[in-house]
Amino acid sequence: MTRSDSGGLVALYAGLDEDDLYRRFFTAHAPPEDFVEKMTEVAQYGGMGLVAVIRAADGSERIVAEATYAVLPDGDAELGITVAEDARGWLGPYLLDALVEEAAAAGIHNLHADVLIANRRMLAMLGARGLAFIEHEDQPATVRVVIGTTKRMPSWPGAHDRPRLLVEIPGGRWHAEAAAHTAGFQLLTCPGPTHQWSRCPALRGEPCPLAADADVIVDAQPGQPGRSLLEAHRRLHPSVPVCVELPADASDLDSDVAVIPQGADDRVALGLIQRIAKKVGAEADHHLGHEPS
Ligand SMILES: CC(C)(COP(=O)(O)OP(=O)(O)OC[C@H]1O[C@@H](n2cnc3c(N)ncnc32)[C@H](O)[C@@H]1OP(=O)(O)O)[C@@H](O)C(=O)NCCC(=O)NCCS
Repeated sequence: MTRSDSGGLVALYAGLDEDDLYRRFFTAHAPPEDFVEKMTEVAQYGGMGLVAVIRAADGSERIVAEATYAVLPDGDAELGITVAEDARGWLGPYLLDALVEEAAAAGIHNLHADVLIANRRMLAMLGARGLAFIEHEDQPATVRVVIGTTKRMPSWPGAHDRPRLLVEIPGGRWHAEAAAHTAGFQLLTCPGPTHQWSRCPALRGEPCPLAADADVIVDAQPGQPGRSLLEAHRRLHPSVPVCVELPADASDLDSDVAVIPQGADDRVALGLIQRIAKKVGAEADHHLGHEPS
């Protein structure tokens, strides 16, 4: 992407309907020209922009897709991507892979994106590359997602200045997300089978970068997949404590496994997690109203 692509990008956005504009820019209006021009300069700030162009037999060209990443203060980057409606069907995943390769070559480990929960295509595309969820927002209903550029899964974003809590739960949304943030944890959720079971390194017998660098894991996957995950973590990441969230009447676990009864109050659940976590800062004790142990 260069400055000379501005006109083609303005035309690309002018061709999107309001829903797609909202998916891409969180507003129903196409971005103004000066915004698009600035976007084409992303490489000047350490980022990268790619365009996909269709060249007609008469030599005329049309930009049918763009993908960019802009560097974040913690060294990761944030991505955005658009494919014209008549070019969809494979170009999005292709361009995302090209962007991921560029980011990896530039030493960037993770790409983040804010995605509308209703944007199933984008979530499917990112899920196919192994994603974790950083945070959910309700107004509008969005999720902040992170994918890795070099490994099957992302790594933990940012500095390890808070205890890291990895929650494995179908769909990736955990009831105690807000309480975990309030308690001072850095939280990532992994959505498991519905999105990306085949990409789970632990179930393939390989260490998972998220699990290996967590201070505590909550396994909230029900049934046999959850038990397989527990066994895999015990084998591959033996120094990371695992806590299982189960219905109160489930009793198929060894007595040495910490269990959060499903339906437990969020603060009670966080208190238990805090007690078994490897590294729990004074801040978490403070927020939970406990004396530091
Ligand atoms: C998101 C976008 C870039 C994806 O590019 P694309 O070329 O349309 O991608 P595809 O058609 O290959 O679809 C991506 C995946 O979604 C799946 N998919 C398509 N339609 C879907 C639907 N309605 N529900 C669920 N999944 C769907 C596809 O099967 C594909 O998954 P697969 O690779 O596992 O087969 C493109 O649709 C777009 O520009 N959308 C509007 C702007 C936008 O949303 N940008 C992202 C902002 S965060």
